[in-house]
This record gives sequence, C-alpha cells and structure tokens, in this order.
Amino acid sequence: MKKTVSFLVSGRGSNFHAVAKAIMKGTIPAKMGVVISDTEGVRALDIAQELSIPSFFINPKQYKSRQEHEKAMVQLLGEYNTDVVVTAGYMRLLTPYFVHEFKNKIINIHPALLPAFPGTHAQRQALEYGVKISGCTTHFIDEGTDSGPIILQKAVPVYDDDTEDTLSARILKEEHQLLIESVRLFCKDKIVIKGRKVYIVR
Ligand code: GRF
Repeated sequence: MKKTVSFLVSGRGSNFHAVAKAIMKGTIPAKMGVVISDTEGVRALDIAQELSIPSFFINPKQYKSRQEHEKAMVQLLGEYNTDVVVTAGYMRLLTPYFVHEFKNKIINIHPALLPAFPGTHAQRQALEYGVKISGCTTHFIDEGTDSGPIILQKAVPVYDDDTEDTLSARILKEEHQLLIESVRLFCKDKIVIKGRKVYIVR
C-alpha cells in the first residue's frame, strides 16, 4: 500500500515543491496528504494551491499552548491518513507530544552536516566557523534539536569567497535531491532504524 506524505512548512517551500513534484511524477511511490503552514501567506501555500494539494494555515497564536496547536495539526494530519510527515523548512520546534504521535515518521532536512551546526542559520554558522566542507542532512525528528537518527548526508565545498547566500544556494540544490531520495526510501520501506542508527536496505 502506498504511504501518504504530508508536509509542515513555514516559508518559501522549495523543498516541499521538489518532493511534491517527485510524488506527482511517480519518482516517489506515495500519495499526497496535506500541507500545513504555521505562517500565513507564504510561498509554500501558493505552491500547494497551484498543485491542487490541500493546504491549511494553522495559526499558533490561536492556541493556548504549543501542544494545543500541535493537537490541531495531528488531527488534520490524521484526517488525511498521514503516514509520514516531512518538515520542509518548518521553523518551529516540535514538542515530545507531536514527536511521539509520529515516532520515527517525521523526516527533516537540515542545511548542514549534522551534528555540526544545528538550529537556525546553519549556513552562517558554517561560514563563521571556517569549515571547508558543509552540506545537508536528512534525519528523523526526535525530542532534541536536529538530533534524531541521520538518514542521508551530502557534502558540498565551502569556498573562500562564499557568502551566506552563495553557500545556501549550493546546499539547497543538494537538499532537494537528498530529501526526495530520503522520502523515496522511506516510502519504499527501505529504511530500518535501530537505536539512533539508520540502515538503508538495498
Ligand atoms: C532549507 O534550507 C531547509 O534546510 C531549512 O530551511 C530552508 C527552507 O527552504 N530547514 P524551503 O522553504 O524548503 O525553500
């Protein structure tokens, strides 16, 4: 049975767009679920509309607590029979409640080679540190910040004249491919998680 993939987004939505196109082309054998944004009027919501994918803005400010906000999201994800949640540029930390609801079923893309440079502005952190190689990482979300089991990683060079923008653009190109491949492997049941290690079944 095909799995249903849903997305949490906050902004531009280029990673969501890349994965959505791969699902629609059949590169990823999956069904499209729902797109949920915590921010109103973002490009990701426009893309969802253009692709006729159900999408909703769930305003965190309307809820008493983070968990109440997440309960509303969990309910909506359930209504769309979600098997896997992709956090594609979702800028909010998930509480243990949400992580537990989708244990080992939330895939995140991070623009650095974890465990280096977790959190926000990963590309800026990499430049300021002076690393010669950075890249991107896909991982399952656990209770920590960018600390869950790593699925795939891809390295890119950092050049002397890089700015945050040039490095981010180089990494972003790889993010799209890495996220597509990670979601594809998950949907084909090719991923086995043991503790904090992820094994790809070939
Ligand atoms: C990406 O760099 C992603 O790794 C990070 O936030 C950015 C989101 O970009 N978490 P987009 O919304 O997918 O275009």
